[in-house]
Order: sequence, then C-alpha cells, then structure tokens
Amino acid sequence: MKAIEIRNKYLNYFKNQGHSIIPSAPLIPENDPSVLFNTAGMQPLVPYLLGEKHPAGVRLTDYQKCVRTNDIDEVGDNRHLTFFEMLGNWSLGDYFKKESIKYSFEFLTKELQIPVEKLSVTCFAGDEDCARDEETAKAWKEVGIPEERIYYFGKDDNWWIAGTEGPCGPDTEMFYDTGKPKCSENCNPSCSCGKYVEIWNNVFMEFYKNKDGKYTKLTQRNVDTGLGLERMTMLLQGKETPFDTELFLPIMQKLESLQKVNDINSRRIVAEHLRSSMMIIADGGRPSNIDRGYVLRRLIRRMIRHLNKLQISLDELSNLIDINVENLKEMYPELEQNRETIKNVMLEEKDKFAKTLEHGEKEFIKEMNKLKEAGKNILDGKIVFKLYDTYGFPPEVTEDLAKENGLEIDKAEFEKLFKEHQELSRQGAEQKFKGGLADQNEKTISYHTATHLLHKALKVVLGDHVRQSGSNITEERLRFDFTHPQKMTPEEIKKVEDLVNEQIQRDLKVTCEEMSYDEAKASGAIGLFTNKYGDRVKVYTIGDFSKEICGGPHVEHTGDMGTFKIKKEESSSSGIRRIKAVLIK
Ligand code: SER
Repeated sequence: MKAIEIRNKYLNYFKNQGHSIIPSAPLIPENDPSVLFNTAGMQPLVPYLLGEKHPAGVRLTDYQKCVRTNDIDEVGDNRHLTFFEMLGNWSLGDYFKKESIKYSFEFLTKELQIPVEKLSVTCFAGDEDCARDEETAKAWKEVGIPEERIYYFGKDDNWWIAGTEGPCGPDTEMFYDTGKPKCSENCNPSCSCGKYVEIWNNVFMEFYKNKDGKYTKLTQRNVDTGLGLERMTMLLQGKETPFDTELFLPIMQKLESLQKVNDINSRRIVAEHLRSSMMIIADGGRPSNIDRGYVLRRLIRRMIRHLNKLQISLDELSNLIDINVENLKEMYPELEQNRETIKNVMLEEKDKFAKTLEHGEKEFIKEMNKLKEAGKNILDGKIVFKLYDTYGFPPEVTEDLAKENGLEIDKAEFEKLFKEHQELSRQGAEQKFKGGLADQNEKTISYHTATHLLHKALKVVLGDHVRQSGSNITEERLRFDFTHPQKMTPEEIKKVEDLVNEQIQRDLKVTCEEMSYDEAKASGAIGLFTNKYGDRVKVYTIGDFSKEICGGPHVEHTGDMGTFKIKKEESSSSGIRRIKAVLIK
C-alpha cells in the first residue's frame, strides 16, 4: 500500500466513526514562539485540548506535517527523518480509552490487515502522579491482544507531553513485530534492537503539568493519537527503511545515477533534507542565522555538503527539486504551488554557501597553519566561533575539516560562545521592539492600527498562508512584509484597500485585554509573539474584524484614521512581498 492510500484510508475510517477531517496546520506554528516547528499532531490543537470549543466538533482527524530536528545528526542512518507526517485522531472530551483502543485495533487489523499476532502493546505502569492503567490493558484484552503481549512501563516510555509543560497523560503504544529474532531473553517492545517497531501512540490526556512540575486534572478527558506515516508505509511494504518506499525512491535513484562517489548515507541525507527543507520553505520558512531560519539553513547546507561528497554538481539542484515536486505533489500540493519560491530560496542559499565555504576554508587553513607551527592540535572554541560569526562558516563544517586534518576542536567553548551570542541578539531584538514603540504620536498610532487591519485583510483576500514577516512605521507611511508566493494583482490590491477602508468607516471600537499566552492562542489571536510561553500578553481586538497580539498602543476607534491607500506592492525577498501604504486625511 502506498503512503497516500494509507493516509486516505485513515482519514476515511475515522470519518466513518464520526470524526471531522481537518487540514494539516502549517509546519511553522502560527502563534507559538515556544516551538520552532510543529513537532506533533497535537500541537496546533492545544487550545482545544485545554477546553476551547473546536468549530469542527469533538471528534477530529487529520494528517499533520511535522519537523523534529533533535535528531538532525542521526539522519543518514536507516530510520531518522527530520520531516515526517503524523496521522491522528482526537477526542476532545468525548470518547476515551475503550473506544480509542477499539478504533485503533480495528484500523490496524481490518483496514490495514495487519495480523493480530504481529501486535504488542504497552501501558502505563503507574506512579505517585497517576494509577497503573489497568483500564487500558483490559480494553486491549477485550479486543483480542493476549496478556503476554501487553507490557507495562513507567513515565519514560508510557507518558506523553510536548516539552516540559502542558496537557499530558499516560499513553498506550502499539508495536509491530518485524519477525526478527529476540535480541535476548528479556527482549520486549521497549528494546531498541529493531525487533519491535512502534507504530501508534494513543495518549489519554487528562492532566496538565505546570511549570513547577505539578499535575492538575484538565476540565475534560481527551484522546490524542499519532501514527507515523513513513514508518507504517515502510512496514506494510516490507521495506527496511523509509528511503526504500515510493516517498524517496525517485530521488534516491536519481542521486545514484548522478553520483561519482558511492555513499548511501550521503544519498539519504540529501534525499531527506531536500524534502524537509522544501516543505519548510513551502510553509513560509526562510534561511537565517537564528531559530527556525537557522534550522532550515543547516538542513540546506548539510544537504549541499553531501551533494559535494557524492560529487554531484550543484547545478543539478533545480532538477532534484522538480523530481521531488512531481513525486510528492499529490500528497502536498503546496510544493507545486510554491515550486518557484522553493527553487529561488534554495538556489540563493546555495550561492551564498558556496562563497562562505570558499572564504571560510581559506581562513581555516590560515588558523590551522598557525596551530601546527605552534605544535598544537586542538582548535580552540574562539576560532570556531570566529569562523562562524565572521565568515558564516558552519561549526559542523569546521569539525569535518578539523577531523580530515587530524585536529580536534573545543566544542564546549564554542557552544558557550554561541549561546552568549544568541542571548545578545535576542535582547537586541527586544530592545528594538521597545524602541520602536517609544516613539509614538497620533500619526504613528493610526498606522499601527492600520497595520493590523491590513494584516487581517491580506489573510482574507489572499489566504491564510499570509504571515507577517516584518513591519516598519514612520509618520508618513507604514511598511508591511508578508509571506505570499506571487505579485498581487491590481484587483487583489483594490480588494484589500476596500476591506481596510470599510473597517475604518465602520468606526470599530479597539479594545485591549491582557491574558495568558494560552488564552490568547485559544482566542484565535494572530500576530508576532515576542513573549515566551506562560507570560502574559496583550491582545488588541478591532471590532469583529481583527484580533492580534501586540504591545500597542492603538487608536480607540477606527473612525478618524483617514483613507487607506496602498502606494506600492513589491518583492522584498523570495516568497516575501512588501506593501507600502498611507493614510490620507
Ligand atoms: N502526541 C503523541 C505523539 O506525538 C500522539 O499523537 O506521539
């Protein structure tokens, strides 16, 4: 069965069990600075797990695009992926353990036709926070899993939480027996020898873990499940790795035909990072030196280094992108829609990286010679940092070069310097934000409110993919940067202007409320978050039109802001448009 068939079967099965199919949220969380990317299906649903009403009901199912980069250095082995898709079904205060287990069992054994003998399950063993999960074990026995294939483990294996704070609870995991021999007498599903592969995780979320590590009961009992699509595809096709499935085969074969040096790990790294970075770019990500931009930059640059290792010309990059778009567009139409942007961003990054490599390598050789003259063989962290900070030379490349030349590097010192540098740039950004707001008068305040109206109007007219990527206000005009793949048409510009002017004429009241970050998120507020998870934020509401997190200040009524006019709509960088607009009184 192909991946897309598994996805469709899943969504249809749960639809037939009364679930609404909801779309995947973008990889880049809309309103959540606490995580870089969506890393699990439940993340975009947190407000609803906490009790907010979901417009599609209490039973939901979807596929969610996820990126996890804690494993980035492991990609190249036969199973780690930085991008993957998670199929999920949710009960928001509706059904609980028994039904959830019945659905999972039926889907696996009837829809996917996995023989019962291949399945083992694990349940929570119990501790001072939560009792042993006998109820789950009983439900498994009732559907037909024999006692000897039901295992109990503690929090390390059978408790799920995203990060350290948030909704959580005991889980039950399903394992597929590959038929490999047991690695020892005690071999069981928690063992990593490869006999048992985890295929599905059902979390019974009825707790909230707060900052101090205390658990409280949620107002409702939820079910959150996650089934990794690539892994299931591989198992059902009897393949050893996801790279042997149709998701990766075309790109793997192309790399094999182009390579001058044969290296399966490098081929896998290229194939995986190419897919991952294309997905991130399609959802609005752009390379930079901080946060998610830096993750994307690392993915692209690591991919390029491995293309170099395979001795594949970088001129092939555009073709490789096309192969992936063609292969994956049925599953991810956004790749086709953003094909040109993906190419522009990747090729631009490739050119930058080529220059960086050239300059950095020269500098590295200078430093190495100095070191050798001094009879030393440890490159100190300051030099690794200087190469990174001044020449943009990635630390992992320095590490590779050092290795090739028989040198070691002082990683701990580099990391210390790197952290200090990140902290400084974070503080700098906050200063800038405050500074910008200190300088306020009637005109800039009106432009500030107009910016919120514009942001919302762009989302209405162009679509929900529009995301603010920059804003600048003077007494004369506003400037607003946002993600959008192509030039706006004159009709679209007119529509946006009309929509903003309509709101001004309606003389909407602007109100401000302070609330917790969670409440703001649950209220559906949009905006750039500068506050961390848990802090209190201000939410500005403009009538029934816009709700956005912001430091303010804003006008009290929209009525006398003047007439809104877009003066210019132009490209800012690839995939980012820039609008300059004025208010005429
Ligand atoms: N949140 C759980 C996971 O990511 C189940 O979806 O595994």
